[in-house]
Amino acid sequence: MKNFIHALPKVELHLHIEGTLEPELMFELAKSNNIKIPFNTFTEIKAAYDFYNLQSFLDIYYQGANVLVKEQDFFDLTWAYLLRCKEDNVMHTEIFFDPQTHTSRGISFDTVVNGIHRALLRGKEELGISNNLIMCFLRHLNEEDAFRTLALALSHKDKIVAIGLDSSEIGNPARKFERVFKKAIKNGFLTVAHAGEEGPPKSIIDALEVLELSRIDHGVTCSEDEYLLELLALNRIPLTICPLSNIKLKVFKTMEEHNIVKLLRKGLCVTINSDDPAYFGGYITDNFLAVAKAHDITKTEIAQFTFNAIEASFISDEEKDRLTLIINNYLT
Ligand code: ADE
Ligand code: ZN
Repeated sequence: MKNFIHALPKVELHLHIEGTLEPELMFELAKSNNIKIPFNTFTEIKAAYDFYNLQSFLDIYYQGANVLVKEQDFFDLTWAYLLRCKEDNVMHTEIFFDPQTHTSRGISFDTVVNGIHRALLRGKEELGISNNLIMCFLRHLNEEDAFRTLALALSHKDKIVAIGLDSSEIGNPARKFERVFKKAIKNGFLTVAHAGEEGPPKSIIDALEVLELSRIDHGVTCSEDEYLLELLALNRIPLTICPLSNIKLKVFKTMEEHNIVKLLRKGLCVTINSDDPAYFGGYITDNFLAVAKAHDITKTEIAQFTFNAIEASFISDEEKDRLTLIINNYLT
């Protein structure tokens, strides 16, 4: 099973590029950009990455992102992730970035997006990994800030396919961003949103109703509501699930208790992703391996996660057919 999972061609749909900042690069950039971070050693980092909920992680995560300053820093961050994708046999990745984390510190939107985009282009050319870029609004910030950020994104429309919503779910309902999402949709962006990571099923239902979403990021609390489960299964509304993240942030106590396999068997379009791998202890292959270790699951079911991710991705139908064929060939 281990070899099968490692070599399985994969598609990632839920990955925060700022969440791929490994301690080595964090220390290097802190030094070269003369930025203070609250850790001096790898041991201190390891101790700090002991999260008890989403907010305890976000507080550390935003501090780490402070070391990203120059366009080259965003390039280096993204390039390191793509090299890791190559090792993990990722064929296609759809990555999030959080511009407000950087513009709030005086880093220009252009610096952020151009650095990431340059690495993505090189990844396509040199590594053969296709991509889509998704810009997230931080839901703990206000609507006005989101509108300002959307205005900046419009001059990079050629580089960004969709708008997302992340950060603190509790206390920041989807409704807060209804108008800015409407404007984004009018301008041709697709939409996704984090919902049902810590929030109740109602948070998923509201997000679907109000933001016209193509998929839900996380969505694991859907199990608590039979009506919602049926809605998600019947309409094949994709959930981009991040198993190791859910364990690190105490959404589930153990991987054995994670509901991803149950959801798969109920016919939901669930996918496996890594969220913030540098903070949660593993990239996409590690997430597949952790699920397979904790659950009695077949190779066919494991491959279904990739078929689902192809179905849920923002690539053309021709490209979906091409990737599906690659998996079918892998299975025969
Ligand atoms: N930003 C980065 N990772 C996140 C997560 N798991 N939930 C919400 N916002 C995030
Ligand atoms: Zn996420």
